[in-house]
Amino acid sequence: MSYKSKMLRDNALKGKTIVVTGGGSGLGKAMTKYFLELGANVAITSRNLEKLQNTAKELEEETSGNCLPIQCDVRHYNQVEAMHKIVIDKFGKVDVLLNNAAGNFISPTERLSANAFDTVIDIVLKGTKNCTLVFGKYWIDTKQTNTNVLNIVTTYAWTGSGYVVPSATAKAGVLAMTRSLAVEWAKYGMRFNAIAPGPFPTKGAWDRLLPGNLKDKFDMTKKVPLQRVGEHQELANLAAYLVSDFSAYVNGEVITIDGGEWLKGAGEFNMLEDIPQEMWDQLEMMIRAKKSK
Ligand code: HXC
Ligand code: NAP
Repeated sequence: MSYKSKMLRDNALKGKTIVVTGGGSGLGKAMTKYFLELGANVAITSRNLEKLQNTAKELEEETSGNCLPIQCDVRHYNQVEAMHKIVIDKFGKVDVLLNNAAGNFISPTERLSANAFDTVIDIVLKGTKNCTLVFGKYWIDTKQTNTNVLNIVTTYAWTGSGYVVPSATAKAGVLAMTRSLAVEWAKYGMRFNAIAPGPFPTKGAWDRLLPGNLKDKFDMTKKVPLQRVGEHQELANLAAYLVSDFSAYVNGEVITIDGGEWLKGAGEFNMLEDIPQEMWDQLEMMIRAKKSK
């Protein structure tokens, strides 16, 4: 067994219908593949229909599951309503919403136009709000219970981060929404949880966050105490658990999966890691010597 292995038992998601926004690429695609392998029907949505169709075909061939590609820009409430209707028409019901779609790029904030800032907030925060409202209202109206929403955030949702300020602002809002609705809508049989991934290489994120030689300049593995980046399957394992009935008592939680990355950045003296082992004898002597003076 290793962290690259598949974690849940066969058919763990059988009978469930799951919608994954941004499911045509990156982490959304990896989670979709595992949900299909576990027996769920999955609808994948984003702006680029051709990409979604290619992904759906590839994953259906690999898993023998049902994957439905639907074009939907989450920034527009009417498109989310139309997407939701297509899912209901095709599968008869939907049990899980995975808000994974995102927009992000690095930039000094003073270089951003108002529209650039809005674009990221609209995809991440407004998009999550649009999907959550459409799905949540439907579940309330139809009295369907045992449903859940899983939101993909980041660890800078609570620490904040320069150079990705629209994304940090929006993800913080998504985290607040997750925790708020976990309480308010539990009475309707809905659970709300979030995952905060550390670095998991994907083309979408790496092209926009580490363009050019920044990949070499800022080696992400060095920021992580476990000295590696994430494997897509380990994120898919966590997501599958959180959308499954095995996590029925987990509600309002954000689970960090980052090899300890954000805490390493947060601990005031974690930089002392750079001190060579042999220097510690000398430092200890200097500190002890002060005591007697
Ligand atoms: C400054 C920029 C810019 C840049 C775009 N803009 N790129 N400003 N620096 N690099 C400005 C544009 O000039 C425009 O403003 C506004 O932003 C909207 O740009 P469009 O290209 O028209 O927007 P759109 O086609 O909707 O594309 C949205 C996008 C794009 C966010 C800009 O990158 C995208 O499609 N992203 C989707 C996928 C993605 O981002 N994946 C990564 C997720 S990673 P003006 O004023 O000129 O009109 C992630 C990881 C987090 O979230 C944590 C990692 C550890
Ligand atoms: P990605 O492949 O670029 O995924 C983003 C997806 O969002 C794309 O499939 C994109 O598809 C879709 N999308 C963008 N704008 C949209 C819109 N307006 N409407 C609908 N869909 C839209 O990047 P990723 O790395 O897999 O990111 C997935 C999630 O993980 C994001 O929430 C991200 O913030 C989070 N995350 C990633 C990392 C990491 O290290 N990779 C770390 C922390 C958090 P279209 O372009 O076809 O619309």
